[in-house]
Amino acid sequence: MARPTKSIHGEWTSRWAFILAATGSAVGLGNIWKFPYITGENGGGAFVLVYLACIAVIGIPVMMAEVLIGRRGRQNPINSLKSLAEEEGRPKAWRWLGAMGVLAGFLILSYYSVIAGQALAYIPRLFFGVFEGVTPDGAASIHSALVNDPERLLAWHTIFMLITMFVVTRGVQHGLEKSVRFMMPTLFIILVMLVGYAANTGEAFDRALHFLFDPDFSKLSANAILTAMGHAFFTLSLGMGAIMVYGSYLPKKTSIFKVSVTISLMDTGVALLAGLAIFPLVFANGMEAGAGPSLIFETLPIAFGHMAGGAFFGGIFFLLLVFAAWSSGISLVEPIVAWMTENHGLSRRNATMLSGGIIWLLGLLTVFSFNIGQEWTLFGMTAFGLLDYLTANIMLPLGGLLIALFAGWMMNKTSSAEELALGNGVLYHIWLILIRFISPLAILLVFANLIGLLNI
Ligand code: PFF
Repeated sequence: MARPTKSIHGEWTSRWAFILAATGSAVGLGNIWKFPYITGENGGGAFVLVYLACIAVIGIPVMMAEVLIGRRGRQNPINSLKSLAEEEGRPKAWRWLGAMGVLAGFLILSYYSVIAGQALAYIPRLFFGVFEGVTPDGAASIHSALVNDPERLLAWHTIFMLITMFVVTRGVQHGLEKSVRFMMPTLFIILVMLVGYAANTGEAFDRALHFLFDPDFSKLSANAILTAMGHAFFTLSLGMGAIMVYGSYLPKKTSIFKVSVTISLMDTGVALLAGLAIFPLVFANGMEAGAGPSLIFETLPIAFGHMAGGAFFGGIFFLLLVFAAWSSGISLVEPIVAWMTENHGLSRRNATMLSGGIIWLLGLLTVFSFNIGQEWTLFGMTAFGLLDYLTANIMLPLGGLLIALFAGWMMNKTSSAEELALGNGVLYHIWLILIRFISPLAILLVFANLIGLLNI
């Protein structure tokens, strides 16, 4: 199968369009909802340090590899991998790596949408001043009233799925570009504002800084290291072909290195700001840092409930959070839809409806895991916990490992050098060493450590 020179789905209009869309994919619930709560659960500083190291040593090189495979293959991840493998004289079975990514997309969006639904539900609650003057207990009970009610959660999950499918039907290049261009900077500004508010908590702010940036390695378990690495993949949307499929719409002349570094920096910046906004509130209000997935839903409303204009800013904040989740959700379905249209001849609309329907149905598992299905556990995890663990901690790092091996060892050096266009210089060789040795070894070490082969 010869590879096409252009994607049948069109191209981004500019380098910035790609950066914005990929940043839209990367910045989402992972940064603002997940990063703070897993940092809280895993003891803070040491966990943050491992996460940052994973972004630098694994995340950026793997992102470059994904974009390069996508742009060279110009198709959905399954076909891009298949035609590049053929071209390099490697087994066609590499397409199964793309298939695992498509599967991960289904699974991740099924629970992602339920959490995004909770953020949606918060928009009217904030705008209508429900949280005005709220106490920590009050905020917790407003949140539990929402998640304990399967009907309400289901309704918000349904709305989120519908808006996501709506954009995907129209094609990611239209609409997405414009909305991200405006939303991302605004989200950033409100986050900075929240950090400003949190900085006024005095001693609690110092405690938060200490918690986030003073590593205590005794708190670092094997599972915490795996979670930090898994999160580096999750937050950068790596390991499942989302960035790869966006790369397939990238014009030829754009520097893959520059875009990858830009996206990673913006993504990490947003996560750290979210941490700096949330933990001072946690400490100032005597709350539990390890409260789990409910953390942002129970802390941020307290701040909004006590600041001037809080109802308005809070409403806007959750609105922007939904936008951020929306642009991530879109990128989770895009590999699936690209595959269904290219390989199975479905129209974009039918492919979106079919995949969206399946994801919506799978989402019921997560909806129920917060209420009537709290007791349905496997390996001590609820359906939501299990889906999250399986995808973020296992499938994405495994996908990332295989992507690194493919780009580093299966592709000829002349092919990767040509696509990255870094010349024959130092940067290319640094990338090559990272992608061939350092990133795969780091991932393998974390897996080995988890199953007890090492004892870190
Ligand atoms: N990166 C997104 C976030 O941090 O919220 C989640 C995500 C999107 C993960 C797309 C994976 C993916 F392919």
